[in-house]
Amino acid sequence: MIADLSLFPLTAEVNSRGHLAIGGCDATELAAEFATPLYVFDELSLRSKCAEFKTEFAKLYPDTMVIYAAKAFINTALARLFNEERVGLDVVSAGELYIAREAGFPLDKVYFHGNNKSAEELKLALEWEVGRVVVDNLYELEMLDRLAGEWGVKPNILLRLSPGVDPHTHKYIATGVIDSKFGFPMTGAGEAVARAASVANLNLIGLHFHIGSLIPEVGPYELAIERVLDLSAGMKKKHGFELKELDIGGGFAVQYTRDAPAPPVATYAQAITARIVSKCRELGLAPPRLIIEPGRAMVGQAGVALYRVGVIKEIPGVRCYVSVDGGMGDNIRPALYGAKYEAVVANKMNEKDAGEVAIAGKFCESGDILVKDVNLPRLTAGDIIAIPVSGAYCLPMASNYNASLRPAVVMVKDGKGRLIQRRETFADLTRCHLT
Ligand SMILES: Cc1ncc(COP(=O)(O)O)c(C=O)c1O
Repeated sequence: MIADLSLFPLTAEVNSRGHLAIGGCDATELAAEFATPLYVFDELSLRSKCAEFKTEFAKLYPDTMVIYAAKAFINTALARLFNEERVGLDVVSAGELYIAREAGFPLDKVYFHGNNKSAEELKLALEWEVGRVVVDNLYELEMLDRLAGEWGVKPNILLRLSPGVDPHTHKYIATGVIDSKFGFPMTGAGEAVARAASVANLNLIGLHFHIGSLIPEVGPYELAIERVLDLSAGMKKKHGFELKELDIGGGFAVQYTRDAPAPPVATYAQAITARIVSKCRELGLAPPRLIIEPGRAMVGQAGVALYRVGVIKEIPGVRCYVSVDGGMGDNIRPALYGAKYEAVVANKMNEKDAGEVAIAGKFCESGDILVKDVNLPRLTAGDIIAIPVSGAYCLPMASNYNASLRPAVVMVKDGKGRLIQRRETFADLTRCHLT
């Protein structure tokens, strides 16, 4: 039997022991050495994705800058890796900015987002000289203008617009629709651009939109590009506004399950760049620098979650629950969005499937089911379950629910596993408690 490893990182293979291996490391040995639940990142897959995004866009549109959306998962080791790959960073909080700074990430390559940035966050952005502040609303615009005046600087800003486009994704991750908390709605966008271009202490250099996440088609991007470029052309005529940067956000889909393929990066690159070029030509605009902000698509497939099987509960004629030592504390996505995953048994890669089971977490919620129905070989306690495409939006949304310890993270390469984030300890649980 040949295991289907297409959802796993590039280096995934079945080794001579019939075990899953990633980056040349046997998954069962990683689980034994670092304990479970464990998140494993494949360094080669991460670096290849950076290269793929940079190459696919730049070959069609040379003036493209790729910035990684840190919210998908960031820590200091990852920030260093992205810097080595010459990728910028999109942050949405002072906390993410702090991690970037601790990692020695060049802050002039950071774009600072957020729909409710505090004065403290904006002051930090000015003090630490972040590359761009992406202004979300008028309140923020006025506050940033005042703070920049007090600080004696003139930061570069983009305005975030909400282009009113349906991205055909889950409603919790659709951000550019009319009814959204993010950005300036198109109806008031003209006044916002005029205001931002006229304030004394800010340098408006571009426009941004992010229409959602896991967007399975290119159409919503094309529509949003048209709307924003139409607005830019109008603003150019009226106020002489020059669009130097167009930031089209992230949202590129990844394949989580065998039955839900996602378009390759090249498909997005072709459609997006072609529409910018043709629309700019039609409107007589100079093509702006293009910024893209992939998060999920940069790290999703590079990450694999490993869990150890404990209790197996067969309810005859109903379901077989296989409980593992993690769950919604380290991956809330199935409970939050009904997200679907596949799973394999890392120590039984060559064994035949024996039937359908549900992979249940160990948290005190009935909804804590990681995978509802997956066909797996016969399981026993101690087996290692591997869930692919776990690199994005699992760890950053992890919690200490049930006073659980957030998992360790290992980077694998050439047969070696390097701990890049230690597992929390009991002492971490009470660190902030005051008696
Ligand atoms: C402004 C912005 N840019 C980029 C992203 C990254 O999206 P994705 O991980 O789907 O690529 C997000 C996600 O919410 C976002 O809000």
